[in-house]
Amino acid sequence: MSDALLETRAVAKQYVMGRETIDVLRGVDLCVRAGEIVAIVGASGAGKSTLLHLLGLLDRPSGGEVLFRGAPLGQARSSERARIRLRHIGFVFQFYHLIHELSALENVLLPRMMERSTFAWWGARGEERARAKAQLDALGLGERRAHRPAELSGGERQRVAIARALVSDPEVVLCDEPTGNLDEHTAAEIADVLFDLSRRTRKTFVLVTHDLELAGRADRVLTLHAGRLE
Ligand SMILES: Nc1ncnc2c1ncn2[C@@H]1O[C@H](COP(=O)(O)OP(=O)(O)O)[C@@H](O)[C@H]1O
Ligand SMILES: [Mg+2]
Repeated sequence: MSDALLETRAVAKQYVMGRETIDVLRGVDLCVRAGEIVAIVGASGAGKSTLLHLLGLLDRPSGGEVLFRGAPLGQARSSERARIRLRHIGFVFQFYHLIHELSALENVLLPRMMERSTFAWWGARGEERARAKAQLDALGLGERRAHRPAELSGGERQRVAIARALVSDPEVVLCDEPTGNLDEHTAAEIADVLFDLSRRTRKTFVLVTHDLELAGRADRVLTLHAGRLE
């Protein structure tokens, strides 16, 4: 085996809407190697988010296979897919997807809580809080940890989301239009954060965006068009 981390083989995805079937992905072959930063670009509606959700085991393909470290997982049990997702895959979304009622720190702690039983959490929570705090500190949010999302700027919210994506020390981080909801200046700042992180930690990043400048900073840029990667 090579150092392939995430792969799709002939992946197809259809959405059935009443009597209509939409072929969004029509045979996508992708191999993301450990440590690389891959950008996927394409027009709005090209299927970028769909592909990212399949790579992150958030959805299942209609055909073909999705593999994590060579293991086929497209049809694996939900519990197995969730386990791999929690341990190895971090997510950053355009609209942050933070829980409004929770503080920045609690949002970052969430994936850690989900990995454990209530009982195990009780024993580990001190250590976990320290870990989440360190992650927020590293992203310049030490003073903001008690704030709720509504009390944070867009850039700060995205930093919290990045802290949440990294807190479990995943091997790969999947980003869906991570700067798409930010003004130009903040978008550049968040792009710097992501690229600094990926170079420093040598984590694998898959970045979906329609921003060609952002994509241009990746190791490799692939274009999704007519359901296929070019
Ligand atoms: N859950 C869904 N049900 C039906 N159609 C969907 C669903 N999700 C996405 N689509 C359709 O699939 C196409 C690709 O969507 P998406 O992956 O979000 O594209 P992108 O992220 O490139 O803008 C669009 O035409 C969209 O309307
Ligand atoms: Mg999208």
